[in-house]
Amino acid sequence: MKEPVINVFDNVTELLNALADFLVKVANEAIEAHGQFTLALSGGNSPKKLYELLASSAYKNQVDWKKVYFFFGDERYVPADSLASNALMAKKTLFDPLLIPETNIFKVDTSLAPEESARIYLETIEAHFQDTPINFDLILLGLGDNAHTASLFPHTSVLEEKVPSVKPVFVDELNAYRITFTAPLINQARYIAFLVYGEDKAEAVHQILGEERDFRKYPAQLIQADLGSVYWFMDKTAAR
Ligand code: 6PG
Repeated sequence: MKEPVINVFDNVTELLNALADFLVKVANEAIEAHGQFTLALSGGNSPKKLYELLASSAYKNQVDWKKVYFFFGDERYVPADSLASNALMAKKTLFDPLLIPETNIFKVDTSLAPEESARIYLETIEAHFQDTPINFDLILLGLGDNAHTASLFPHTSVLEEKVPSVKPVFVDELNAYRITFTAPLINQARYIAFLVYGEDKAEAVHQILGEERDFRKYPAQLIQADLGSVYWFMDKTAAR
């Protein structure tokens, strides 16, 4: 298994510009190689600034966005208009500013029951990949301060999934459902990039990259590229 590539930056601005440059490079390589760039976004707060940067004049002209297809590595099981929706956050910060057509955006349908929502999302993804293996060009991931990533939360049954898939998971600590890629689905991406900054992440980073190997306690330890490479983009407070 390849070791992850760890990048630590002095501040968040340098970190975000480096990740934006990396994403642009991977996007243009993918478009050159196979005519499209399949990107699975992460949610929560950390990526908002990255998405705003990509939509800014500094980056928006560096990628042919009509050849970019957007997916979500996980989604909160909330209505589409909920402020907790990852898709709504991405719409505001990235899709609307870049005028991304709806046909390039693949959202989780949370109006269905959790099991159905996950099953239909997987079918949607399989249809886009035309029943070839689902190898996303890039999957962006965040890291929770409890060492979860996507919606792979500690001590949940979804951590035991051995097949690339999309599953619902009820998260006791949130008292809520999430819809998430399984670790095997994430691990067959060409590139996986963690975006982690802020000192409240330092403990989780230490756990993930540390000596104690226990994926049930530290689910982000499940993430290792079977085909490609894992990159960490951190600021120095998170990497402390
Ligand atoms: C989500 C994310 C989740 C996130 C971490 C970190 O749906 O919330 O996909 O995995 O990356 O919880 O969230 P913050 O960036 O908000 O700290």
